[in-house]
Amino acid sequence: MPEISESTYLDGNVTQDTYYIETYGCQMNEHDSEKMSRMLEQMGFRPVSEAEQADVVIINTCSIREKAEHKVYSALGTLKSLKTKNPAMVTVVSGCVAQQERGRLLKKVQHLDAVVGTHRIADLPEIVERIRASRCRIERTEFSPDVKSLHLPGSVKNPAAVCSYVTIMQGCSNFCSYCVVPFTRGPEQSRPAAEIVKEVENLVEKGVREVTLLGQNVNAYGKDLNGRGAAHFASLLEKLEAIPRLQRIRFTTSHPRDFHEDLARAMSELKSVCEHIHLPLQTGSDRVLTAMKRGYTREQYFDKIRLLRTWIPDVAVTADIIVGFPGETEEDFELTMSALEQIRFDQIFSFKYSPRPGTLARTLPDQVPQNVKVENLARVHALQDAITQEYHRKAEGTVEEILVEGRRESGQWYGRTRRNKVANLESSHDLHAGDLVRVQIVRGLKHSLLAKEIDA
Ligand code: SAH
Ligand code: SF4
Ligand code: F3S
Repeated sequence: MPEISESTYLDGNVTQDTYYIETYGCQMNEHDSEKMSRMLEQMGFRPVSEAEQADVVIINTCSIREKAEHKVYSALGTLKSLKTKNPAMVTVVSGCVAQQERGRLLKKVQHLDAVVGTHRIADLPEIVERIRASRCRIERTEFSPDVKSLHLPGSVKNPAAVCSYVTIMQGCSNFCSYCVVPFTRGPEQSRPAAEIVKEVENLVEKGVREVTLLGQNVNAYGKDLNGRGAAHFASLLEKLEAIPRLQRIRFTTSHPRDFHEDLARAMSELKSVCEHIHLPLQTGSDRVLTAMKRGYTREQYFDKIRLLRTWIPDVAVTADIIVGFPGETEEDFELTMSALEQIRFDQIFSFKYSPRPGTLARTLPDQVPQNVKVENLARVHALQDAITQEYHRKAEGTVEEILVEGRRESGQWYGRTRRNKVANLESSHDLHAGDLVRVQIVRGLKHSLLAKEIDA
């Protein structure tokens, strides 16, 4: 049982201190929130589902696009009235906006107690204790050459959880010209392989059957370790493959420039590694790829897809696409559309280019008008929806393996196929989270598959 650090007695009952975390952004941020939850729970806090009921409120922020950053300011607006009602509440902003804005945020937002940068989340317990003891305001945003939270495990919130994230790297050293991440997360730092293996073993012990390895550029894993527990990404996968009862390994994100045959081979040979890769293309135009500083050409990207499909013929490929990068012409945009048609991704995540502070692309001439971005994004959506739907329709009648993750209120079980498609499952008998089930796909819907269990 965790120790209760501070408690008040009401009618003879112990009331524990409470916390609430609101998370924006990527899986990396979600996982950081899990780490913060774990630390707070070790201090004796328990989670609540409304900020209003919490003694400590954390907004874990994202800055990838302007819209994401705006959400933070509206959340801070709501927090103001809560803090006015309850001045003892500790209010914290963490994540990429915290890192980007640093002390400016404390100056701008008077009802904020702490700004905690992306390298500093391991300091959270100390920060919370200091604020509660002396009502000071704290900025903690210095970068560190050895980020402590990289070594911390996250929490498996649900005791029946079968899927878990594991951080293998932090930061990014690529400086794609549009992207804020190298500024908000700092340079690439890999976590020693032995530590990753240990964490995965512990998770499997607790019932986890699928792990997703997280990093901004997992293909560069180990490059910065210089012999200190270094391993290439493919050999890290081999080490994890050896863990008994770990059924599935996923990873994200791969950078096309650093994707080579050794990884395609590892994906094909290692049984636990799922047949899915997220390989962001961003644009189909060489001119725009150069301006983005992505480090590959359209043809080189196509070659990587061919290589992947040679090793793993039915591999699922997903990607990110940006429309409206500065200087993008109709001709450039059509090259993106033709790339989508030729590659036929299983799914894509597409975004309107958004100028970000400190990035090179922000200073480029010929910013694309908003109406062109909106129109082109709709064209991308329409094309990709048709492709995704065709994949789903083609899946009808095929046999797949599903890892059961839970049960919906409707009574249907749900999980994902190895190729990362969400499947809802009908079964005549009771299933359990963590079961691997052989199913037949009955219907391919727009965003998911409907499956029925094949009698064993
Ligand atoms: N490390 C990953 C992705 C990180 S961010 C990679 O390199 O692929 C996730 C996605 O957000 C990116 O792939 C990109 O498509 C999108 N993105 C990043 N910065 C953006 C910006 N300024 N405007 C619009 N989309 C952006
Ligand atoms: Fe951003 Fe590029 Fe790094 Fe991805 S690889 S996080 S897009 S700078
Ligand atoms: Fe957002 Fe930071 Fe992730 S900017 S996408 S939370 S790395």
